[in-house]
Amino acid sequence: MPTVKLVNNKTFDCQSGQTLLEAAYAHGIALEHSCRTGRCGVCKAQMLDGTTKAIKAEESLCAEEQAVGFILTCCRTAVTDVSLDIEDLGEFGKIATRTLPCRIDSLSHLTDDVIEVTLRTPPASRLIYLPGQYIDVIGKDGLRRSYSIANAPRDDGKLTLQIRKVPGGMMSRYWFEEAQANDLLRLEGPLGTFFLRTSDASQLVLLATGTGIAPIRAMLEQLAAKPAMNTYRRIHVYWGGRTEKDLYWTPDYSVLPLCFVPVLSRSPDSTGAKGYVQDAVLADGIDLADAIIYACGSESMISSAMNKLIAAGLRRKNFYFDAFVSSN
Ligand SMILES: Cc1cc2nc3c(=O)[nH]c(=O)nc-3n(C[C@H](O)[C@H](O)[C@H](O)COP(=O)(O)OP(=O)(O)OC[C@H]3O[C@@H](n4cnc5c(N)ncnc54)[C@H](O)[C@@H]3O)c2cc1C
Ligand code: FES
Repeated sequence: MPTVKLVNNKTFDCQSGQTLLEAAYAHGIALEHSCRTGRCGVCKAQMLDGTTKAIKAEESLCAEEQAVGFILTCCRTAVTDVSLDIEDLGEFGKIATRTLPCRIDSLSHLTDDVIEVTLRTPPASRLIYLPGQYIDVIGKDGLRRSYSIANAPRDDGKLTLQIRKVPGGMMSRYWFEEAQANDLLRLEGPLGTFFLRTSDASQLVLLATGTGIAPIRAMLEQLAAKPAMNTYRRIHVYWGGRTEKDLYWTPDYSVLPLCFVPVLSRSPDSTGAKGYVQDAVLADGIDLADAIIYACGSESMISSAMNKLIAAGLRRKNFYFDAFVSSN
């Protein structure tokens, strides 16, 4: 069986038909990832040696990246022994992904097209996760969709999701037309590696569009509950929506050095920031060489933010993201 070697000398075997990402997790080794379907690009890695085979389409890799040896670990299996120019995420590999039963505890509307759903798991089966991570909710007939957890772990173990209605969407139909308190569902999680890392940067910049604010809220709750974790001089939160009514929440954490900037793309008469969150960051002149950025929401925001902010001085390794890519 081929062996996969990481740049920090961790190794694991990869069975035929198993992706490199799955093989790593089967050995308790965590690698950067989000969607697991080739669409977001978070799991991108450079091959140093060996041969791999794509078993899923690598949609988020461009031809230039493929030509210089980049692969997606969620899409490829090893054909020969392989060396990759990535490290694992250390201790994080010890948080196991589990499938648990859960019930809807409550549902409420945040806007006309966003609902907040609170889930409860059996008291003996609490989900252990890091703020920023997501779960897959598995509904009727096995229909499965990903949702970020919008709260830091609570004493009662409940999980809050913020769900936007996608017109014609299969799971949206369930959430907005059928879902009721006490419905029985299943969840798989925690998933993804979008969580706060230690950093020597002095500026923390959190970018969100739409329901991408959910994991950002969880991260802010974590920082507010554990002020010792906050090593930043300033925490900037930029949240983008079309109009005022899309922005259904205001961060209010007096213990944090917080600067909140709502950004509206289709509200020409508003007095605040207009346009897109990435442009608002540039306009505010934050020292990007001394910043770490977490961005969550639409693919278009994430790719534009990554390109523009890196061009303006952000270190590439200081841009973390979770893209709400569709699952089909
Ligand atoms: C890691 C991750 C975390 C996510 N977290 C959240 C979250 O916290 N809150 C939330 O509201 N959503 C989140 N999503 C998106 C969510 O998983 C679903 O994709 C979305 O709710 C649509 O599901 P659906 O079954 O209603 O629509 P589907 O039946 O899957 O799709 C219907 C149509 O809409 C298109 N479509 C679906 N999703 C999108 C999209 N996001 N953008 C543009 N077009 C789309 C599809 O291509 C299809 O044509 C997340 C996605 C990922 C990958
Ligand atoms: S492309 Fe591999 S995790 Fe998203």
